[in-house]
Amino acid sequence: MDKQAHFYSADSIQDIDAFVDQAIAMKKNTTSFNGTLQGKKMTLIFFNPSLRTRLSTEFAAQELGIHTISMNATEGWKWEIDEGVIMNLDKAEHIKDAAQVISQYSDVIAIRSFPGLKDRDADYRDEMLQNFMEHASVPVINMESSIYHPLQSLTDLMTIKEAFGEKKLKVVLSWAPHPKALPQAVSNSFLQWINRTGHDVVVTHPEAYDLAPAFTANCAIEYNQQDAFKDADVIYTKNWSSYNTYGQILSEDQSWMVNRKKMALTNNAIFMHCLPVRRNVVVTDGVMDSDRSVIYQQAGNRLHAAKAVINHLLNL
Ligand code: CP
Repeated sequence: MDKQAHFYSADSIQDIDAFVDQAIAMKKNTTSFNGTLQGKKMTLIFFNPSLRTRLSTEFAAQELGIHTISMNATEGWKWEIDEGVIMNLDKAEHIKDAAQVISQYSDVIAIRSFPGLKDRDADYRDEMLQNFMEHASVPVINMESSIYHPLQSLTDLMTIKEAFGEKKLKVVLSWAPHPKALPQAVSNSFLQWINRTGHDVVVTHPEAYDLAPAFTANCAIEYNQQDAFKDADVIYTKNWSSYNTYGQILSEDQSWMVNRKKMALTNNAIFMHCLPVRRNVVVTDGVMDSDRSVIYQQAGNRLHAAKAVINHLLNL
């Protein structure tokens, strides 16, 4: 039997450029796909809150004609992941049972599950998504796991291509301060996807904030943010907590906030952020609301990216 296909990371897609083109083409002809997957069913499970991912993925499925049910698993619903455990504590269901049962009712399953940010090895094993993919008999969509956010990255590449077409670009991923410890998933994933496009990629952050080497191997690292911004075409800003001193906030240095003065160093770059964003902590209102900010186009593209992914998985 063929292995079940899933949408887990950039590695789930053979030709990234062609897939981005396909998603943009679907966006242009969006209504022609309406109802084409009538009769299919999708279960979405959220172990963490979401605005964009929840609405865009559910509406995308519904526009395609799919019946959707979203479940919140944010409180009091704990699943066992480990094999062979005596389940006499607080976890009432094993993930392999849940995955196989949900597969009986659904044609596709979508899961959001953030990292705990305490145990790096456990987080980077990405057990919730990996176990779902292992035990489900239908395709699984990653709606942001401990280490990847591929629906966001597909959206990001669509937005960049819409702005610049086939032009080769200098793309900068910049760390910015944040009062809470945040996951590395958006940044990891963005680097994984953008590094398959042929653009020049620079990552800039304070020295203590290196990302996992697997994601930065093909990037230039620049610890001086202003030098990194020089001649950039794309500024993608995101906070992440430390990878090496795992899950910790080591700096809230406000001098890393993105502002108009720094954007003026660029080649009239577009400004990107996945949202939600802390205004005037991560980035100033002046940049967020400027005519080079593409944050709402980026968020809007989540709908079309989700449609492309669901359509791809259910038509394989
Ligand atoms: N960008 C993103 O995934 O937003 P949500 O957390 O609101 O889904």
